Amino acid sequence: MRSHYCGDLRKEHIGEDITLCGWVHRRRDHGGVIFLDVRDREGLAQVVFDPDREESFALADSCRNEFVIEIKGTVRSRPEGTINPEMPTGEIEVLGKELVILNKSETPPFQLDEHQNVGEDVRLRNRYIDLRRPEMQEKLRFRSKVSNAIRNYLDDNGFLDIETPILNRATPEGARDFLVPSRVHDGQFFALPQSPQLFKQLLMVSGFDRYYQIAKCFRDEDLRADRQPEFTQIDIETSFMDEEGIMGLTEDMIRKLFLELKGVDLGDFPRMPYSEAMQRFGSDKPDLRYPMELVDVADLMANIEFKVFAGPANDPKCRVTALKVPGGAKLTRKNIDDYTKFVGIYGAKGLAWIKVNEIENGVNGLQSPIIKFLGDEVTMAIMDRLGAENGDIVFFGADKAKIVSEALGALRIKVGEDLEMSEREWAPLWVVDFPMFEETDTGLTALHHPFTAPSCTPEELKENPLDALSRAYDMVLNGCELGGGSVRIHDQEMQAKVLEILGISDEEAEDKFGFLLNALQYGAPPHGGLAFGLDRLIMLMTGTESIREVIAFPKTQSASCMMTEAPGEVSAAQLRELNIKLRKTP
Ligand code: AMO
Ligand code: AMP
Repeated sequence: MRSHYCGDLRKEHIGEDITLCGWVHRRRDHGGVIFLDVRDREGLAQVVFDPDREESFALADSCRNEFVIEIKGTVRSRPEGTINPEMPTGEIEVLGKELVILNKSETPPFQLDEHQNVGEDVRLRNRYIDLRRPEMQEKLRFRSKVSNAIRNYLDDNGFLDIETPILNRATPEGARDFLVPSRVHDGQFFALPQSPQLFKQLLMVSGFDRYYQIAKCFRDEDLRADRQPEFTQIDIETSFMDEEGIMGLTEDMIRKLFLELKGVDLGDFPRMPYSEAMQRFGSDKPDLRYPMELVDVADLMANIEFKVFAGPANDPKCRVTALKVPGGAKLTRKNIDDYTKFVGIYGAKGLAWIKVNEIENGVNGLQSPIIKFLGDEVTMAIMDRLGAENGDIVFFGADKAKIVSEALGALRIKVGEDLEMSEREWAPLWVVDFPMFEETDTGLTALHHPFTAPSCTPEELKENPLDALSRAYDMVLNGCELGGGSVRIHDQEMQAKVLEILGISDEEAEDKFGFLLNALQYGAPPHGGLAFGLDRLIMLMTGTESIREVIAFPKTQSASCMMTEAPGEVSAAQLRELNIKLRKTP
């Protein structure tokens, strides 16, 4: 039907007879002349209807917002003084000659240009209208460009796009599974994939050598601003490539992507061992846009009277650390109270602080509720270690190492944002040398997943599992974990050892992933890979705060869809067929 998209019209089309199809964005009646701003996915064009063409004029007059119309007309330049430099099509307009109303529209639940005042629930309930907004169109169009560029890159590098099943046995990636009851197999369930992990490894055993897939993954976990229960991975696996090769290739892919689609050169990504990231930034995904670092001071506090600090300072499971904030002495009591509440979210029991007013006057130039507990000498030794300067504030955390790292690591970013301390727009890095295992209440768990290769022998692993490092790597951008992967175990003996350390019995291993253990016995090549979160990548590239803004039909924080109202009840007949009886909760 159409000859041009509205948003594509420019000066060079002047004089052309064209046909537009789109939605009425706005209708304005200007003393006898009617203006319709017509919108399609490429943008807006202004169409003018004169009263001389009675029929089309009357139709234009009857149009309302969001009517779908087809217009035949001629492009002409806008009269002097009415050029709109804000609009890409602002130099021209279309003289409307024929108009067909293809469909009418009810008054939309919100004006497309006034969405700011509309709650997210209204937007999500009427997502098909929300997605008409140019901003949303732009984000989804950008998303399509990114996946295209990635496909092209991987295709050029010899990767094959292979689909893996959605109805599976549970994959042990650490999150809770979404389950699907089987009708045919009474009492049995499929699990939706948390990732294609095992299948991509099996494809390596089959000799495909380089695999990728833009894969839907499902995880029933607590949702946050950067997490969805159903999300998309750019999933990659290779054979005969070590970590250097895999990191090099995927870094090159992301660098080219940013260059091509954003004109940004990310440069070479620095690498940082996990232990250093935790030590200096209190996080396994440090945001290097902010310069501040955590500085441990336990040794200086070991002999003071004040139990809040001396206790943790003498406990190897604890950490006592300081965060110096340049310019932070201007923070008010209220600011500090708010930050104290903020670190409370991570379990911190308090947030001690020292303001540095006149360091040249020693402790007399400092202001703090804790100097009296620390003593002058310790206080000044701390100031010295931190290189404190006038105008700084120093925050302190003392508790279990995990709590202190998380709390002060998060505070570092929060204060950095609040005080606008970001030093650059993009800060990528690789975090490497992760521990193989971490200790939890239920024993050891794999930090990445149980198929990740350790960087030591099976004997060394058995000897000292908590000290063992893995061949895993995470790509981090601006404090967000963009992707993660590892070199895998391709040796059956090593795989059995890791499962044993994780407390997974032979029977359980056989039951859950016997197929993988078998496959490893039939000539499994050395292999490894990585998966990026596509949604997170788009979020970062478009500067969006919430993952929901870059997904066409996202789920809410409570894992439901406001538009379709999924999940929903099913009929008694369906349940009977599945042989499922609901236990009514009182
Ligand atoms: P991992 O669990 O680290 O690794 O996931 C890879 C990447 O997927 C993204 N991601 C998510 N994005 C949105 N919502 C979620 N709920 C969510 N969970 C994860 C993150 C993350 O970095 N099979 C391994 C990869 C491998 O070893 O090759 C895996 O799934 O950006
Ligand atoms: P209190 O003696 O409990 O009032 O604490 C004195 C100061 O130390 C206050 O500023 C508290 O916020 C702070 N504080 C208390 N517990 C901790 C902790 N575990 N880590 C850091 N600061 C703390």
